[in-house]
Amino acid sequence: MAMLKNAYKDGVRGMIMTPHFRKGMFETDRDTVERQFLKLREAAGEAWPDLVLRLGCEFHANLDMPEMVTEDARYRMNGGRCVLVEFSGGDPVRMISGLCRELRSGGYLPIVAHAERCGVIVKNPEVIDELHEFGAYVQINADSIIGKDGWGMKRFCAKLLRTDRIDFVGSDAHNLKSRPSRIGECAEFLRKNYGESYARDLLIRNPICIARGEEL
Ligand SMILES: [Fe+2]
Repeated sequence: MAMLKNAYKDGVRGMIMTPHFRKGMFETDRDTVERQFLKLREAAGEAWPDLVLRLGCEFHANLDMPEMVTEDARYRMNGGRCVLVEFSGGDPVRMISGLCRELRSGGYLPIVAHAERCGVIVKNPEVIDELHEFGAYVQINADSIIGKDGWGMKRFCAKLLRTDRIDFVGSDAHNLKSRPSRIGECAEFLRKNYGESYARDLLIRNPICIARGEEL
């Protein structure tokens, strides 16, 4: 609730919450996740009636992912066609594009989470163009954009934004202290540096497509 309060103060009125799933590390069963989400949504509904909350998942890539997201809609974004897939920093291109292609051909719309942390994308941003070509999307973190993760990262994200390679921005908020949401600060930064329309695409229009499970 404290994190939601912060986000609300930042101007957030809609949010897709993406608790991790990662084999061997974060394996909270989806019944528990859903139950806790519904509890939170009820409390939030009383405190902020105009705040829309949806459940998603940040799914750490594994070979069973296509099967798992098919079997349980709660591994997807708002139960729709979009899936947020997280890769490890050192994963090779063939793994990133291979899994995204497989998901896409299974009818899903894959979104690569915090793409700015993928080594192969940092080395070669054209990898994103290949992903876009077959209908995968790319998300980067608010903190990376505004420079909280270092100057080099900020410069790299600026390059991605300037070349129109980014589809979504996430807060990647985990708590109030070490990884709080700075989405409000990021919104201001995007507006100032990239214009109102681009900021609205990244923070409002495109996320609404995710919630509806639609292509951008
Ligand atoms: Fe992540």
